[in-house]
Amino acid sequence: MVKVKALTSFYRILHPRPTALIVSMDEENRPNVMACSWLSPASMEPPMVLVLLGEQSYTRSLIVECGEFTVNIPSRRQMKLVKVAGTRTGRETDKFKTVKATLKPGRKVRVPVIEECPANIECKVKGTFEAGECLAILGEVLDAYADRKAFQKGLWKVKVPLHVWGSWFAYAGKPVKEW
Ligand SMILES: Cc1cc2nc3c(=O)[nH]c(=O)nc-3n(C[C@H](O)[C@H](O)[C@H](O)COP(=O)(O)O)c2cc1C
Repeated sequence: MVKVKALTSFYRILHPRPTALIVSMDEENRPNVMACSWLSPASMEPPMVLVLLGEQSYTRSLIVECGEFTVNIPSRRQMKLVKVAGTRTGRETDKFKTVKATLKPGRKVRVPVIEECPANIECKVKGTFEAGECLAILGEVLDAYADRKAFQKGLWKVKVPLHVWGSWFAYAGKPVKEW
């Protein structure tokens, strides 16, 4: 095996990764949405997630101010929203006016969830720390629910978009039981 240096693109080694739509809210309860693929489960007990948001993101300041956010996993049908959420900033655009989406109140948080997304996770900020140009936001998961047809017994039954990079996405095939 001949290995070439990949330090400058090390993070691409860790893609494709699940794509999420992060919803946050300003002090006047106006929701904003951004696309995010640098996120990970962080703990099962208590349930926690970690999201990494760059300096450019308006969502980052909204989450720090509001203390809550929701993680919404889109299906392929929501790719128009993913594009707008990931290429425009809520500082300048009301993205929910650009692309239609049904916002439903969170069950445990004030920030809404996107009804059309087959899975939703409601989070409260537990802590933050700087990680280079990103702010790592640790969120305690207060509630999580998924469409019963799309997500069964802990397995996705629909192909959710995995972010490869830029505007490239992959859709995983059928799971294979290896042992
Ligand atoms: C699929 C996808 C994934 C993205 N993942 C991240 C991410 O993990 N962290 C981040 O800071 N920006 C990420 N971005 C870029 C933000 O979504 C983009 O900067 C967006 O305009 C931020 O919106 P806001 O300013 O309204 O928060 C991603 C973009 C796309 C298209």
